Amino acid sequence: MALNKKIIDEIANVTSKAALSCYKFLGKNDKKKADKAATDSMRNEINKLKINGEVVIGEGELDKAPMLFIGEKLGAGGSLELDIAVDPLEGTNFVAKNLPGALSVISVAEKGNLFNAPETYMDKLAVCKKVPFDATDLDFSVEKNIKNIADAMNKDIKNVNACLLDRPRHKKIMDILNKLKVKIKLISDGDVSGALMVTDEKYNIDIFLGIGGGPEGVLAASAIDAHECKFQGRFLFKNDKDISRARKMGINDLEKKYELKEIIKGDSIFCATGITNGDLVNGIKVEGNKFVTETFVTHKGSNLSKIFVSEDTIKT
Ligand code: FBP
Repeated sequence: MALNKKIIDEIANVTSKAALSCYKFLGKNDKKKADKAATDSMRNEINKLKINGEVVIGEGELDKAPMLFIGEKLGAGGSLELDIAVDPLEGTNFVAKNLPGALSVISVAEKGNLFNAPETYMDKLAVCKKVPFDATDLDFSVEKNIKNIADAMNKDIKNVNACLLDRPRHKKIMDILNKLKVKIKLISDGDVSGALMVTDEKYNIDIFLGIGGGPEGVLAASAIDAHECKFQGRFLFKNDKDISRARKMGINDLEKKYELKEIIKGDSIFCATGITNGDLVNGIKVEGNKFVTETFVTHKGSNLSKIFVSEDTIKT
């Protein structure tokens, strides 16, 4: 297996180090500096690995933040060729305001297996494993999706749990969910974590829906794939610049609905390290002269879904 334990540990270490690089920016109201620290750390750490990597999902152009560029080559060389999707700091506001939910996130797959996506918005749908794949769809109405989930899970509509970003653009969806009396978890930011809430019953979320970042959608898809849940995404292009960038990346059908298997193929590794406490993992802890981090790791090939704990000596 090309994606073996060694590379899983190495990738988990990359997000752990990137998370730690944000520590000094917690609550300093400077999301740009925190994002840059995480990005620089991620680049440095990946460049130490014996891989031939290429960034297929970079993040930052939406808000002109420092970024790892799409097409950027990473790694110290070697026979392992990887596609890399990165979000060095997911939840820049959370770090700036020292709020729960900040993560450092990465996903890797063997070359050619991870979707090369533009930095634009994406309409997303993620649904838990208990619901048959064809019972929900981005093209169905919200009512139909919710009713089908309730039927499939044999529960009352008012006990269906939905998660979405708290944004004015979601008013119509919110009105429908409220009318149906669905239980809503409204998140202020961080929709990688939001989408991952469908992967385990313990998070008590049946459906994640709505519009968020495209890169975050692809990253979440990788972990959702490892958990055999449903994910669909459709890119949304705001202007001609977005459209011409998408066309250059080979996207000709601008309204295409992407299925999970078109976004991620074959084996993959997903790692998300907590910077501040969140639903998935705890944030950075200081214990004596050590930092302790938690990383949520999935590896499709070995059905791994686990929290890795790692320690790093605090340098004074
Ligand atoms: P950043 O970490 O880049 O600030 O992104 C946070 C986030 O909430 C993402 O999780 C989400 O996909 C995106 O922003 C939504 O964008 P917007 O804030 O423009 O609605």
